[in-house]
Amino acid sequence: MALRITSLREYDQQYQRSIEEPEAFWSEVASDFHWQQKWDRVFSGGFEHVDFKWFEGARLNITENCLDRHLKSHASRTALIWEPNDPKENGRTLTYRQLYEEVCRCSNLLRLLGIGKGDTVCIYLPMIPELVVSVLACARIGAVHSVVFGGFSAGSLADRIRDSQAKLLITADGYYRGSKPVNLKSMADEALRNCPSVKHVLVVNRSQFPISIVPGRDSYWDQLIAKCSPNCEPESMEAEDPLFILYTSGSTGKPKGLLHTTAGYMVYAGFTFLNVFQYRENEIFWCTADVGWITGHTYVVYGPLLNAATILIYEGVPHHPSWSRWWDIIDKYRVNIFYTAPTAIRSFEAQGDQHLAHANLSSLRLLGSVGEPINEEAWHWFFQKVGKGNCPIVDTWWQTETGGIAISTLAGITPQKPAHAGWPLPGIVPVLFDDNGRMITQAGVEGNLCLARSWPGQARTIYGDHQRFIQTYFSRFPGYYFTGDGCRRTEQGFYRITGRVDDVIKVSGHRLGTAELENAINQHPEVVESAVVNIPHAVTGEAIVAFVVTRSLEVDVQRLEQEVIDLVTRSIGPIAKPKQVIVVTGLPKTRSGKIMRRILRKLLQGETSNLGDSSTLLNPEIVTEIAEQLEQNPVRVN
Ligand code: WT7
Repeated sequence: MALRITSLREYDQQYQRSIEEPEAFWSEVASDFHWQQKWDRVFSGGFEHVDFKWFEGARLNITENCLDRHLKSHASRTALIWEPNDPKENGRTLTYRQLYEEVCRCSNLLRLLGIGKGDTVCIYLPMIPELVVSVLACARIGAVHSVVFGGFSAGSLADRIRDSQAKLLITADGYYRGSKPVNLKSMADEALRNCPSVKHVLVVNRSQFPISIVPGRDSYWDQLIAKCSPNCEPESMEAEDPLFILYTSGSTGKPKGLLHTTAGYMVYAGFTFLNVFQYRENEIFWCTADVGWITGHTYVVYGPLLNAATILIYEGVPHHPSWSRWWDIIDKYRVNIFYTAPTAIRSFEAQGDQHLAHANLSSLRLLGSVGEPINEEAWHWFFQKVGKGNCPIVDTWWQTETGGIAISTLAGITPQKPAHAGWPLPGIVPVLFDDNGRMITQAGVEGNLCLARSWPGQARTIYGDHQRFIQTYFSRFPGYYFTGDGCRRTEQGFYRITGRVDDVIKVSGHRLGTAELENAINQHPEVVESAVVNIPHAVTGEAIVAFVVTRSLEVDVQRLEQEVIDLVTRSIGPIAKPKQVIVVTGLPKTRSGKIMRRILRKLLQGETSNLGDSSTLLNPEIVTEIAEQLEQNPVRVN
């Protein structure tokens, strides 16, 4: 039976065991899954050489664990409920049997298009059942999926396709996000102008938007899938065979493709879903994340399906056609577990309680939060207004790199503390370091959050650039995995994540790198250089302010601001839009030419003295100038 922690005492015991006898612990967790062949070694390698491996020697297919093995007892259980954007359109539900058949059909279709083990498939779809089906179909035939969030622009899609060398793109003709049409196929066409690796495009009919079809390259999902058999032998995968690539932003350069492998990811996704959410048979689980993010991979698709849960996916936006939509969906399907992001909670809070006054919400047992720190006010609003004071909240800390939840309360088992993620999960050993690399042992002191040893769900590398993987995560604090987050620990051992300590910005929980934002802005012909910084924002958590130096001092700031916003939207996507563009005559820099964003951030918050160690500052006069400028024209963010 599955390893489920059911009491505080058991948490203590299992946590201890996961540290003292990690191989025995994970071997027991793994024994709950279906293996074609068992492993020879639970774990090998480590952080010293960045060569960690889990369950080596094992053979498996993750979809046999998500689908086949549930057919015996749960074939008629609902696996997936789909709620479309438009509340008047009919939704769809798929039982485990139906999902299995759809996935097999799609797997056969992929093979028909020449896709096989080790090939990469890029998936660029709205939140429709075909998205879940495509992901699982890739996994079934051993193809590596690379899901790109449908809100990303053609430029971002092209970068990701080129980096992953995808052979096939699965997309849709178009869809509505709220009342806004999104011409997905035309964005895909634009991206593909410069992506020679893509040989075929599979188009799901979702809207009736007119599209252009490239003969020989494009085909319609609907036309081909009907001819495919509803059975498909799963590919036999080795434990460390790649399962997916998922791109995420870092502090430097282009987004990096984090690579997750098969066995460890599966074990970790299944284990964390069961234990953090304390999932019970027949419960309906709604995670509002898009499958284009890691939250969607692990807790829309794999984690719940590994546990034979019923997942709900919703195509639209929270406020369409009104701010009551989410609460109506919860009541309509009687959702039991609701997992969302602080930014969403804060926007509902800002809209006023009348939008959920009519909602019943009595089906809810548990609430979850993910993606950014949750402030106490939002926590209490969520607890009182949505949970009606009856539902525990799990504040789950993790990252694209961790594959699954790493620090969190176990619902109703370990204690919860507002705005604190809580205690580490079994196998996770958090350590805090000060900026000089000294370990922090006292409580209440903020430090750099590191993890001291590998866990099964950990990303293994950055696709195509292992050196960058080592450099990014294992060089700052040698022998430890560096998360990029700041964190404090209380006397009781609760962890409170304080936010990124690197040049990564979280806008509405979306992760963006200053370097990629600046690269986009610098494409503007009038911009010489730019610096992007984050500023606290009441709803989105953080917002982006861009300082730009222009060629000429006479520039229409309003026009430039709009052009910069459009440029960022086109090259990255609407999620990356700066809130404000400020034209300056220069940027504070170090003697070696590095932009000092830290100083800009302080200036934005109205600090003029106490700018930290500015002894390395090359041009203090610029700081004074910007400070004066901001005093005359304060930022209008918030
Ligand atoms: C970063 C990872 C993994 C889920 C989605 C985001 C921040 C995530 C929390 C939380 C405070 C959080 C961190 C982390 N973050 N969850 N519960 N409390 N901060 O994945 O895009 O890879 O971003 O999100 O800063 O490093 P991601």
